Amino acid sequence: MKTRYDLVIRNGEVIDGSGQPRFLADIAILGDRILVVARRNTPGEPAGLIGEREIDATGLIVAPGFIDVHTHDDTALISNPGMTMKTSQGVTTVVCGNCGASAAPVSVSRLPALLSLIAKDTALLAPDFATLAARVEAAQPAVNSAFLIGHSTLRFAAMGEDLERPARDDEIEHMRTLLQTCLEQGAIGLSSGLYYPPAAAATTDEVARVAEPLGRLGGLYTAHMRHESELILDSLDETFEIGRRAGAPVIVSHHKCSGRNNFGRMRETLPKIDAAREKQDIAFDVYPYIASSTVLMRDRIDLAEKVLVTWSDAVEGVAGRDLRDIAAEWGVTVYEAADRLEPAGAIYFTMHESDVQAALSHPAAMVGSDGLPLDSHPHPRLWGTFPRVLGHYCRDLKLFPLEDAVHRMTGLSAQRFKLRDRGAVREGAFADLCLFDAATVIDTATFAQPATPARGIDTVIVNGVVTWQQGAATGLRAGRVLRREAIAE
Ligand code: ZN
Ligand code: CU
Repeated sequence: MKTRYDLVIRNGEVIDGSGQPRFLADIAILGDRILVVARRNTPGEPAGLIGEREIDATGLIVAPGFIDVHTHDDTALISNPGMTMKTSQGVTTVVCGNCGASAAPVSVSRLPALLSLIAKDTALLAPDFATLAARVEAAQPAVNSAFLIGHSTLRFAAMGEDLERPARDDEIEHMRTLLQTCLEQGAIGLSSGLYYPPAAAATTDEVARVAEPLGRLGGLYTAHMRHESELILDSLDETFEIGRRAGAPVIVSHHKCSGRNNFGRMRETLPKIDAAREKQDIAFDVYPYIASSTVLMRDRIDLAEKVLVTWSDAVEGVAGRDLRDIAAEWGVTVYEAADRLEPAGAIYFTMHESDVQAALSHPAAMVGSDGLPLDSHPHPRLWGTFPRVLGHYCRDLKLFPLEDAVHRMTGLSAQRFKLRDRGAVREGAFADLCLFDAATVIDTATFAQPATPARGIDTVIVNGVVTWQQGAATGLRAGRVLRREAIAE
């Protein structure tokens, strides 16, 4: 008797996430797993697959669902479990807690400015990872999620509002214990954001000592570095040192060279990363745009050719406007205008296109959106990152083959973030899949109209469940919290 599968996907061209060339195959899914990948040149087999439900993927690429390795979706998973900004791009897994800012482990009565990137309310923060994970699971989001613990969040927990100094020994010990508990509960690593005020006074030694449990428990270290402009080479050294001392793999977050004076400096940073990779485990993520986005900060205004306001709690109706226009209207300097708008967020045009392309095409580069899901006028990377790499950079600019582009969004990411049985189209892997049209896939989100779904993403499947089809969410949500695998002693 023939097995009847839940879902059979016929006639697609499979790009399996490993970087290897595509092949024609039919795929059979039972429950949450891919059970059969039958190459079309295997006589007899394909016709033998019978599905409860079938999808004809003629003319489409069948790829692993994309893994967004750099997100700030920590509480968006709870408040907006449909996660359309991600499923519409073909994303099936998000990594949260980046840049030093995570929603756990912390309880505060006043929301620190940095955490306004990831939560609009202190009630959404959680005292430990287990509590956060349980809330995410209760919300049943449409995508899988894995979580880093933020060093700045640990500082809020251990040092309160007294942050403009290095942590004392007892505070380091407190942060280290909190991190260890969260890792034991399933968080996958530590992120830091030494660039941001709550952690800028932290020493290299502080972070390395807090990071100590990573090596023992198999967690990874991601860094929004102290500097991404003039002092970027020093910051790379600092980041590598922390990883070495913790015995942890390093991920440099949103690698970029910021500011006109630093245009072209990927010629220095990438060889430096290559040299260090011979001695330790290092990779990085990158988003496909020349503009960055975060909270509104004075020192970033100087680096930018142009600044767009993304939200302001102090002044209504300014989201989406140019900071210079606002300042001119008010008859003040851009710095005074920024002061009046705060707390606020902004988009900064600070990069050179050639640097973005050099980073994107490096062998250690993974794609991560760094999208900010709570902004009222977000950076378009929130809705456009993955289709933009596939359509604009891969197809139109021919920066790399499609197999390579998919690898940077799936297989490489799963391997680096230790997401077992994800990011691959192979027998036994989880059925996280994205079916897209390579000829038409493209982002439509722009700086003027940032919240629009991409074109060319046909079907998205999460843990065997069809989540996105024919340009719309199906309403089915099957995402899971992915926990750090306990490593054998
Ligand atoms: Zn960051
Ligand atoms: Cu970030």
